Amino acid sequence: MEGGGAGELQRAAAEGDLERVRSLLDAGADACEGNHEGMTPLMLAAQNGHAEVVRALLQAGAPWNALNPLGQCAGDFAMDAGHQEAFDILLDAGMQAELILGVVARQERKVEEGAEKPYLQQRVEYSEGKLLDEENKGVMMAWENPLMAAHAKAICANGGHVLNVGFGMGLVDTAIQSHNPASHTIIEAHPEVYKRMMETGWGEKPNVRILFGRWQDVLLQLDSYDGIFFDTYGEFYDDLKEFHEHLPKLLKKGGIYSYFNGLCATNAFFHVVYCQLVALELARLGLTTQFIPLPVKDCLDEETWRGVYHKYWQLDTYFLPVCQSEEEENEEDQKQ
Ligand SMILES: C[S@@+](CC[C@H](N)C(=O)[O-])C[C@H]1O[C@@H](n2cnc3c(N)ncnc32)[C@H](O)[C@@H]1O
Repeated sequence: MEGGGAGELQRAAAEGDLERVRSLLDAGADACEGNHEGMTPLMLAAQNGHAEVVRALLQAGAPWNALNPLGQCAGDFAMDAGHQEAFDILLDAGMQAELILGVVARQERKVEEGAEKPYLQQRVEYSEGKLLDEENKGVMMAWENPLMAAHAKAICANGGHVLNVGFGMGLVDTAIQSHNPASHTIIEAHPEVYKRMMETGWGEKPNVRILFGRWQDVLLQLDSYDGIFFDTYGEFYDDLKEFHEHLPKLLKKGGIYSYFNGLCATNAFFHVVYCQLVALELARLGLTTQFIPLPVKDCLDEETWRGVYHKYWQLDTYFLPVCQSEEEENEEDQKQ
């Protein structure tokens, strides 16, 4: 091509030279090619806060989700450097692309589907502070205990009747019990986890109702609830979305819903994109979502992950979703 190649485009993007970027793109420069550190023109523009260059590169087909060898994308650079406008443009591009294509979630699904056996057919093992599947992947781990306590507090805020999907180590259920709900329904699908629940006395608690089976298969046995928590394992974004479609029936007006927010938790910017996608999808179903930031860096060190196949959480902050269904309009409002 005439007048320079990818190297020149990278330089112009880093410097924020919009005209040069446009003319290089028009002349056929590769918008995706990274420099010796794997930094693409989009990453360089985002890192330096050149919002219009970010926009031009996205329009020219630069992928919003390309990663450098350290696993960082353009959005991570904009976010870390506090470049709000570039961040917003990238967030919008990520959401548009994922709404249509769902590439990032599908990649996670592919990794999980590579497993030899589906999770529910695998043996599981409880050991000190962990519940692992046959491949030593963490089904549940004790470092999440403070998060589970916060989820329980959120969904029990209205008192009343509570539903939890996925027992795991019983952390959230133990915390829910401490709020003394009128009733506490637990759905659990894994036979060995269910056996553990029975052995540890969960079947005898007066306000507890246990439904053994996949949530998909016990829906008809459910009522409506003041608080709901969802945290399964071996499922995907599509399953979470499917569960959300049932919320208008399952959650009472004014009720509170929360879920384990572990979507794309290996990259901070992908995670933000998926937080916003879920909030958008819940808004369509009549729920408002607030994310409460909880620092988790100090709960996690290398020792935490010893013997665990995959670090399923790599972020410093957990965004606890508190989702509330709209209250029924009261009579006064209706008269007006
Ligand atoms: C991450 S653990 C839940 C941890 C729990 N929140 C706690 O505080 O210990 C996920 C649980 O969901 C269960 N599970 C997986 N798929 C399920 C499904 N489709 N329906 C119901 N439970 C399911 C798993 O067997 C596992 O016990």
